[in-house]
Amino acid sequence: MQDIYKYIENHIKEHDPVLKELTRQTHLRAVQPRMLSGHLQGDFLSLMVTIKKADRILELGTFTGYSTICLARATGENGQVHTIDINDELFSLSQKFFAKANLTNKIKQYHGEALQIMTQFKEPFDLVFIDADKREYPQYYNALFDLNLVHKDTVIIADNTLWSGKVVESIDPKDLYLKGILDFNKLIAEDPRVEMVLLPLRDGITIATVK
Ligand SMILES: C[S@@+](CC[C@H](N)C(=O)[O-])C[C@H]1O[C@@H](n2cnc3c(N)ncnc32)[C@H](O)[C@@H]1O
Repeated sequence: MQDIYKYIENHIKEHDPVLKELTRQTHLRAVQPRMLSGHLQGDFLSLMVTIKKADRILELGTFTGYSTICLARATGENGQVHTIDINDELFSLSQKFFAKANLTNKIKQYHGEALQIMTQFKEPFDLVFIDADKREYPQYYNALFDLNLVHKDTVIIADNTLWSGKVVESIDPKDLYLKGILDFNKLIAEDPRVEMVLLPLRDGITIATVK
């Protein structure tokens, strides 16, 4: 599998220097650097924004800002990514890289609980990337509809929906992260309001569009 990913990374656009440096800094500074989206998934997110022509984007889970940069770069001139993270330790690192990528005017960072901050928005988004607390995925998804943060054709993307393959292992009732992912996967698959697909890209990525 590693070889396949190496091959893929050698056959997509070259890794951007700012994102390469951000990856390096994330490995030096963050406790769980593997949370970062990375080259392949980053390009995938950018392409989704381009295809969708999404200008108003919501991201739950900034971390060091890798996916935020990929989302923001692909937006139009007036595009804006609103990105939320509860951890303020990495706030200045991501902020520094947003400036390096010349994206300060396209990114608005929020510090706090995703579910709390989501209540502040008054208009729906064209694209939403769910990548914060796995235990809360079902609540994030429901909040998008309850708070009218989606419109017809909004694209919803959720990361880690195969959760390292644990979705097919026997369930440990104490594993609330796995429970969050399993509940979310069931909820979205059975929801008549969306068309969706779950792809085995990296750790599993679900893409849905609101009908
Ligand atoms: C997997 S990382 C995000 C990775 C990032 N999207 C990327 O691709 O580089 C998950 C992030 O969600 C944040 N997070 C966890 N619980 C949260 C919550 N309740 N509200 C907001 N952010 C949260 C964590 O601090 C962490 O930085």
